[in-house]
Amino acid sequence: MVTVPNISDKNTISEQPTTERLTPEKLPQHVAIIMDGNGRWAQQRKLSRIEGHRAGAESVRVIVRACRRIGIPILTLYAFSKENWQRPSREVQALWRLLSNYLKSELDEMMEHSIRLNALGDITELPKAVYRLLQSTMDKTASNHEMILNLALSYSGRSEIVRATQKLAAACLTKELEPGDINEAIFSSYLFTANMPDPDLLIRTSGEQRISNFLLWQMAYTELYVSPVYWPEFREEQLMEALVDYQRRERRFGKTGEQKQKEV
Ligand code: FPP
Repeated sequence: MVTVPNISDKNTISEQPTTERLTPEKLPQHVAIIMDGNGRWAQQRKLSRIEGHRAGAESVRVIVRACRRIGIPILTLYAFSKENWQRPSREVQALWRLLSNYLKSELDEMMEHSIRLNALGDITELPKAVYRLLQSTMDKTASNHEMILNLALSYSGRSEIVRATQKLAAACLTKELEPGDINEAIFSSYLFTANMPDPDLLIRTSGEQRISNFLLWQMAYTELYVSPVYWPEFREEQLMEALVDYQRRERRFGKTGEQKQKEV
């Protein structure tokens, strides 16, 4: 069971001057990021793609810290899709090395700031040593409660939906569930993001305007923000721009603007 951190009792979000532009009550509870552009960033500098990913891993460190300081309770990063297995094996291996280094180097900070690490995806497909390290980091951080860091690894939105459907079908066969009882809430509880709110904001870097098989079910009403900046250059300043832009939006969830105003 995942406990969603509650920040409602925090009325100040940070001493950092950049956060002055934010309204604490309107902070997104869940931010998801498609970290794109590592390869192009490297290519522009005549570096290898692996160098691009190394620089991208540094952005992960910076942005996780920034989200923690700002008070974003859930951050979900798309680190490796199922489709990414098709990349050259040297690149895939380098990504697992970077993930392992990240998990080792950040554990103390996760414990110090009560960050819970969670994985979304078919993580049994990861190399055994990486899987074990990931699992032990998740175990060690399991009772942390200030922030959840979800890493999507070997993740595909479509296969997550198929997996949930298979589990639901199995539950019907054993009479745990009746087909007619299945509703959206029950379906959601069979996804990797069970018990978490859907992302309020999706940020995609590098200017690409695609969902790329990420959180397909969960993004039904997510606000989309595309940053032109490549992921290795994405810093707190760009995160702030995305959050400020998000806070200016009116989320109507299918209702009229007038109805939403009345609710406020
Ligand atoms: C997309 O850029 C990025 C990835 C497929 C990998 C993301 C990995 C990291 C940021 C580093 C390691 C992760 C952690 C959690 C430490 P791309 O390679 O598709 O870029 P391109 O479109 O410019 O080629």
